[in-house]
Amino acid sequence: MHRGIEIHDGIYWIGVNDYETNLFEGLWPLPKGVSYNAYMIIDEKVALVDTVKGSYFSQYLDRVKALLPEGKSIDYLVINHMEPDHSGAIKVLVEAYPRMKIVGNKKTIQFLEGFYGITKNTVTIEDGEVLSLGTHKLKFYLTPMVHWPETMMTYDLETGTLFSGDAFGGFGALNGGIFDNQVDLEYYEDEILRYFSNIVGRYSAMVQRAFKKLEGIDIKTIAATHGPIWRKNPEKIISLYDQWSKQEAEEGVVLVYGSMYGNTQRMMEAVAKGLCDEGVQKIRLHNIAKSHISFVIRDIWKFKGLIMGSCTYNTELFPPMKQLISAIENRMMKNRYVGVFGSYSWSGGALKELEEFASNNKGWNFIEPVIEAQHSPKEEELKKCKLLGTNMAKAIRKSL
Ligand code: FEO
Repeated sequence: MHRGIEIHDGIYWIGVNDYETNLFEGLWPLPKGVSYNAYMIIDEKVALVDTVKGSYFSQYLDRVKALLPEGKSIDYLVINHMEPDHSGAIKVLVEAYPRMKIVGNKKTIQFLEGFYGITKNTVTIEDGEVLSLGTHKLKFYLTPMVHWPETMMTYDLETGTLFSGDAFGGFGALNGGIFDNQVDLEYYEDEILRYFSNIVGRYSAMVQRAFKKLEGIDIKTIAATHGPIWRKNPEKIISLYDQWSKQEAEEGVVLVYGSMYGNTQRMMEAVAKGLCDEGVQKIRLHNIAKSHISFVIRDIWKFKGLIMGSCTYNTELFPPMKQLISAIENRMMKNRYVGVFGSYSWSGGALKELEEFASNNKGWNFIEPVIEAQHSPKEEELKKCKLLGTNMAKAIRKSL
């Protein structure tokens, strides 16, 4: 077991990897695992920045102990974020270091009592306040709703390290390397976007507000609570986050369909042909009954076009498609193009709901035609599906 990894003089990564949890927040699959990044700063005073999920406390404490110089104790625990994947170890940590002061903003301190009943040894900081550890001086930036109301970031004035909380982080455990120039970023990028789009994306406007607050700061390293540490090229993740939180989507189309016996699927295949014949290469197709919604949301966040097709189930939309619509609305996605089609056997239902979604959603451009097939799609309907693909391709190309 290593002792943690030095990021800069006196600053160490003391995080842990979680390869065991199936569903993050009880919702999101973790095929590549996830890291809970935490940090330790050793100076005249010793500070910890964030902790880890409670079940990983023992590994975390081992790392703290291995680095702690003889005769010193932990002076401060800075809490950037109270979600239990980072705060879960606090209660036991307080027992190990009872004189340690816990540093957070007003909301953090309220959450600390609410989650763990801790009220002693707390230090409430204000936005912009600086805490000196000796050489390292920590400046606090309150960045509410990136991702919870108490969220803040901590910036070390000495090294230019920004401890950014969830912002700039993503799924994917750190398999050996922890720095952006040690790992295969392609392996992580989709998982960073899946994390952003599903967990932080709803708060995109607040991410943009945080960007404004951080303007003019010389950020040399980004140390988030999940995923790689951006020490070589922090501009890359800053630029991706900026693009994603402005909802600037790329050329490409996501096709999502719900089909019980293949009829709606045939319609989707005709749409895909229309897209392909019009030169669209980036097509991401999801059978909504099989793809986990988090991967679908990720792709919708990434690409400009979305075409949804659904069979009717008990006079309504196919249930997993209903869930997808609710997830899209919850994340307040905009700046996209959308087309819809549906099928039914004896009474309609699915298409009506899809049309309502597509035409009522502010910031979406509706692409015609709308197609509805009874029982199985006929040649004429399949032609219209192909036309929907063609029209979508043309609209997207025009928009770029
Ligand atoms: Fe990684 Fe919002 O917690």
